[in-house]
Amino acid sequence: MALYSDKVMDHFMNPRNVGCIENADGIGEIGNAKCGDIMKIYLKIENDIIVDAKFETFGCGSAIASSSMATELIMGKPVSQALELTNKAVVEALDGLPAHKVHCSVLAEEAIKNALKDYFDKNGIPYDAEQFKETDHEALHDHVHGE
Ligand code: FES
Repeated sequence: MALYSDKVMDHFMNPRNVGCIENADGIGEIGNAKCGDIMKIYLKIENDIIVDAKFETFGCGSAIASSSMATELIMGKPVSQALELTNKAVVEALDGLPAHKVHCSVLAEEAIKNALKDYFDKNGIPYDAEQFKETDHEALHDHVHGE
């Protein structure tokens, strides 16, 4: 069986929503200190709906495929649904990622959450800070690599 699904290869070779949004309503950036990859997500939000989402990812193929799929998954959705997007949902939509690449999908979930937090902060929208607790990337990385 191929290491990467056709969907991962497709979103890696032809990523959707690459770029930045001028005057974005929310911007989120997250990096993984261990692998050094960085993901930045831009959101345009109108009437509580994600009307546009773009990303810039300096990272591995799985991180690029995850960013591409994650932006597709939240496009047109209400903010509340985008907030609930999990890395698991991104992995499922990609028809799976190898175990040692699951942490790449976590970057997508967290970059989107950071962008939404930025949107809430900029607009004085109250939120539960618990929702924005960051994953311990190092622990996750160590775990998946069995170090
Ligand atoms: Fe770190 Fe993919 S190897 S995000």
